[in-house]
Amino acid sequence: MRGLPENVQVIVARDAKDLASRAADEIALEMTLKPNLCLLAATGNTPMGTYAELEARHEAGTLEVSNLRVAQLDEYLGVSDDDPRSLYRWLESSLTRPLGVTTERLLRFHGNAADPDADCREFDAGIARWGGVDLAVLGLGPNGHLGFNEPPSPPDAPTRALDLTPASLESNAPYWNGLAVPRRAVTAGMNLILGSKRVLLLVSGERKREILRRALLEPPTPDVPASLLRGANLTVIADRAAWGEL
Ligand code: F6R
Repeated sequence: MRGLPENVQVIVARDAKDLASRAADEIALEMTLKPNLCLLAATGNTPMGTYAELEARHEAGTLEVSNLRVAQLDEYLGVSDDDPRSLYRWLESSLTRPLGVTTERLLRFHGNAADPDADCREFDAGIARWGGVDLAVLGLGPNGHLGFNEPPSPPDAPTRALDLTPASLESNAPYWNGLAVPRRAVTAGMNLILGSKRVLLLVSGERKREILRRALLEPPTPDVPASLLRGANLTVIADRAAWGEL
């Protein structure tokens, strides 16, 4: 695609299934290069096919995951682990349990932490101990958010607690079958995401087309946090429905 810097690579997948397979290829490649990869991992719908593909490869014995380290990208506040809306629970059931990621190889937020700021500091300290994020696997919010870095989020926005925007409350509502979306959350900061050695941005479906266009083609701005990824070592994997005529 014209107009993108050299550090940005784009893969256009046929459909969501092909996207999952190509994303799993990229993650598997990184795990081959660094078996104790530190993977910063999103929940949401988009990466679920990719995680299922990783699980299938692990079960088939073609993916070695015994040293993989996983960090949770974000979490709602005011939810405990047994709450169906816990993002930790979602990540656990879709990625870390299927891949057998043990607790010492898992870095997480606590939705019911008494002191969310302290939880964020502990999270950052854990990432620092692990030597930073090797690979961030992200979805694209319809409002351009990354994790819960809501617009506006500057490049140095730290790991923090924040209020979700109306747009995110709306885009998250379908996950929870009529349960209210928690109004506050914690997120890995833009500083950690942009400092990742590599970022995979997964984008699926026509409803993401316009925000993907803004993220890739309009001047980078904190008002579209995903646009700031153009300063990172970024691979966008979009299906045709999301890519359109870009
Ligand atoms: C979830 C997360 C969010 C989602 C984004 C896209 O952990 O960090 O930023 O990645 O809202 O969600 P989906 O994939 O459901 O369209």
